Amino acid sequence: MTAEYKVHGDIALITLNNPPVNGLGLATRQGITNGLDQAQADPAVKAVVITGAGKAFSGGADIREFGTPKALAEPNLLSVILAVENCRKPVVAAIHSVAMGGGLELSLGCHYRIAAPGANIALPEVKLGLIPGAGGTQRLPRVIGVEAALNMIVSGEPVKSEMLAQLPGQKLFDKLAASPESLLDEALAFAREVAAKHADGSALPLVRNLPCKHKDGDAYFQFARNMVKGMAKNFPAPAKCVDAVEAATKQKFDQGMLFDREIFINLMWTPECRALRHLFTAERAASKIPDVPEDTPQRKIEKVAVIGAGTMGGGISMNFLNAGIPVTILETKQEALDRGVGVMRGNYEAQVKKGKLKQDKLDARMALLTTTLDYDAIKDADLVIEAVFEEIGVKEAVFKKLDAVMKPGAILASNTSTLDVNKIANFTQRPQDVVGLHFFSPANVMKLLEVVRGDKTAKDVMATVMSVAKKIKKTAVVSGVCDGFIGNRMIEQYGRQGGFLLDEGCTPAQVDRAIEKFGFAMGPFRMGDLAGNDIGWAIRKRRYTEKPDMKYSKTADLLCEKGRFGQKVGKGWYDYVPGKRDAIPNAEVEQMIADHRKALGITPRKISDEEIVQRLVFSLVNEAAHILEEGIANKASDIDVVYIFGYGFPVHRGGPLKYADEVGLFNVVQAMKRFQRNPLDDAKFWEPAPLIQRLVAEGKNFNG
Ligand code: NAI
Repeated sequence: MTAEYKVHGDIALITLNNPPVNGLGLATRQGITNGLDQAQADPAVKAVVITGAGKAFSGGADIREFGTPKALAEPNLLSVILAVENCRKPVVAAIHSVAMGGGLELSLGCHYRIAAPGANIALPEVKLGLIPGAGGTQRLPRVIGVEAALNMIVSGEPVKSEMLAQLPGQKLFDKLAASPESLLDEALAFAREVAAKHADGSALPLVRNLPCKHKDGDAYFQFARNMVKGMAKNFPAPAKCVDAVEAATKQKFDQGMLFDREIFINLMWTPECRALRHLFTAERAASKIPDVPEDTPQRKIEKVAVIGAGTMGGGISMNFLNAGIPVTILETKQEALDRGVGVMRGNYEAQVKKGKLKQDKLDARMALLTTTLDYDAIKDADLVIEAVFEEIGVKEAVFKKLDAVMKPGAILASNTSTLDVNKIANFTQRPQDVVGLHFFSPANVMKLLEVVRGDKTAKDVMATVMSVAKKIKKTAVVSGVCDGFIGNRMIEQYGRQGGFLLDEGCTPAQVDRAIEKFGFAMGPFRMGDLAGNDIGWAIRKRRYTEKPDMKYSKTADLLCEKGRFGQKVGKGWYDYVPGKRDAIPNAEVEQMIADHRKALGITPRKISDEEIVQRLVFSLVNEAAHILEEGIANKASDIDVVYIFGYGFPVHRGGPLKYADEVGLFNVVQAMKRFQRNPLDDAKFWEPAPLIQRLVAEGKNFNG
């Protein structure tokens, strides 16, 4: 049963019960209409209360039904809301915890609404590239006013019930309950009151009959359109939200509903909406590991230790402090500890200055931090994360020490970005307890966490770290052990293509402009300047001996030989004015690129933006296909999550593999074959990965 029906005296109670958030799946929708039928057929019932069991009134559509025939099967949500409106007995929504999307729309079809304080109320459809599809754009403005409603619809952000209850003239809530605990009793009493009021057969109030006007109509909507234009340049939905709410003010209710429906259906088929829906499910799916069941017992993580208080160690520690988990940082020298702690405090103070953090919170977080030079002080930690220098000898010494001192069952993690996690695990007598936790810089800001599963990492360790990731608000993706894991292994190919493009005729600015127009936050050269060109240089130097057959452009090496390491020295591919991040093209660099081209005997050619984008993005796609085939990533959508949350891939494209699916894998293969014929590129690399060829032959996509 996903909606229960019970009678309390003369009131029928329909309780949505579809964990985790009472999504309005088909069975729940049927449960509601059945309940209404029963209530109407029972002469003893005078009114109906609809509420939700557990953690929500209703979180809206049931995401498990997305893309299945069940999502649209009758009774669909519109029919359910109509059935509620048409119920001959008063229907009261008793809202607590969460009323979002379809959940809120359902309540807007009820004749009365009573809410518990603290409930999160939202129409978040815009976050999936949609507008609310079951009357939210037509009904919400009628109960809280046009501006408040449009703000909620365009942002998708939740607002607390008690805030909404304070809006002047609001008709969203007829009553605010004293507390979530008293909600049900108050709702039943309120239902009795309204039943008595309508015992004379007087008409039941409907939101659809309320007026909807804005005093400055056209001017206000013009202003709203300008606002959303800047806010969401790659997404059509926010502007459509404005159109739909405007329709509520200008058209009759039923006409407005039709208009709203048409927009909803059209948006559903846009690539942007498909991308957002893909990412919504991809992000949730990322935490699931095929051979680690969700009920795998987990280890308790109450105390954390971090080894190394440098760039990463400090940021990693902040994540745990923010989540209320005590951290001890260990270093080799007191100065290093003082410096690291100073940076962390400085970060928090900057947040306080910006008004993003209260001083007492800062104090509480710093109070959870202890520092030490002695391994004895961390031996009881449940999880220790190593973030020392990226040298295998240093890692070996640290892990041998950890193995000697840490209590049995402690999880030993490394934040290494390039070293072999299996090798690190084998420095200990407990490789089953060792795992890679690859945070991204700045570690207190970036959402992505690559969880690197060693050959011997125990399943309960995997289950534990995935759930720890959630606690510290990271999006975790599992990667197998390989050079660069998922993200950096792919970015190396992208960087190589950037280099070839310069050799063949592009300027750094042309490449950056093209890929930024595609939607990347930053092109490869601006990115290199930000991260430090010396880092890539060090990796390439290693590659020249490790993989002598791999082809690289030497232009970036020439740049580094000139000391142009990037923003930190005020010059890289571009010049920088101190204190500013604007990238100013530099004639000397362009001359250096041209001279190098000449030395190689290359005649520059004009390269289109389309070719630039395809070579950069499809290089990611081909490497990703190898990664998938080797089992380094569990599923295609995990790779999209890595690129969206860790590498600034444009959200509206849904990630590299979702984008490849949208372009069509057949077309992707054709492009790769074209690039193979370019003598200045790397023909071997562009051989389409066997997985892509297989998918094309079977008429399939990466993402199903
Ligand atoms: P860092 O040089 O800023 O900090 C390293 C810290 O470790 C220093 O404070 C040093 O005093 C301390 N340390 C060195 N040997 C130690 C030992 N035996 N015991 C205790 N402390 C010791 O380096 P960063 O950038 O924080 O990198 C740390 C690790 O994180 C490396 O493995 C790196 O590959 C990885 N990483 C770095 C990223 C970055 O963007 N910087 C991104 C992702 C991973």
